[in-house]
Amino acid sequence: MIPVRNDKEIAKMRAAGKALIEVFRTVDPLVAPGITTLELNAEIEKKILSLGATAPCKGYHGYPAAACISVDDVVVHGIPSLKVLAEGEIVSVDIVLKLDGYHADATRTYAVGKISPEKQRLIDVTRRCFYNGIAKIRAGARLGDAQHAIQMTAELAGYGVVRAMTGHGIGTQMHEDPTIENYGRPGTGPLLRSGMCLAVEPMIAMGDWDVRIDRDGWTCRTADGLPAAHYENTVLVTDGGCEILTE
Ligand code: MF3
Ligand code: CO
Repeated sequence: MIPVRNDKEIAKMRAAGKALIEVFRTVDPLVAPGITTLELNAEIEKKILSLGATAPCKGYHGYPAAACISVDDVVVHGIPSLKVLAEGEIVSVDIVLKLDGYHADATRTYAVGKISPEKQRLIDVTRRCFYNGIAKIRAGARLGDAQHAIQMTAELAGYGVVRAMTGHGIGTQMHEDPTIENYGRPGTGPLLRSGMCLAVEPMIAMGDWDVRIDRDGWTCRTADGLPAAHYENTVLVTDGGCEILTE
């Protein structure tokens, strides 16, 4: 069952989204060659707590950090470490926060210094996947409409849609119904209703979509070692479309 939020709950989702925007405002200038992903995570956690929010990823099924920080071939769930970001890499910063009982979830993939045109195109297309996907979201649409638009955008650009990881509903829990695959057929899947909250998050690989999980049980990498990008926002379904709560 996909929860439909009332006005009071939507106000809380908006407040959580605003807080997460604030967190990314502090992340943006920090991403540069020389910083470790652990240092970046510490700044993120500090900012989340300073806003009166909490970082629900920390401790989630034993996950050890506030944020997921995924470099180059790491698609998602990169664990912050002593790894130093280097010029030419791309890094996805995935942050969830909980404020007053409600969650917001967003991801940005950043260029570390100067990157290749190939990597920049991957970042740009992944972002376009998100926008083309949410352009299909409105009350009365089917989730498959959005999923299909994401898939078409990625595959027409020659990229792979990661299958093993998905977006999700979000609200009082970090992960709620529905599961949002980044591929699908128009006219299929759950009917969207005004007041539903969704974390839409295309994870797009430069090469093949197959992934492997490291021995740490979290780090998810492309099997072929090519880079991947990730773009995510929490959105609210409305009658005429949707409202992005995290940008
Ligand atoms: N932001 C991730 C998601 O969309 C959650 C990361 S898993 C965690 O599902 F363990 F880090 F919380
Ligand atoms: Co998410």
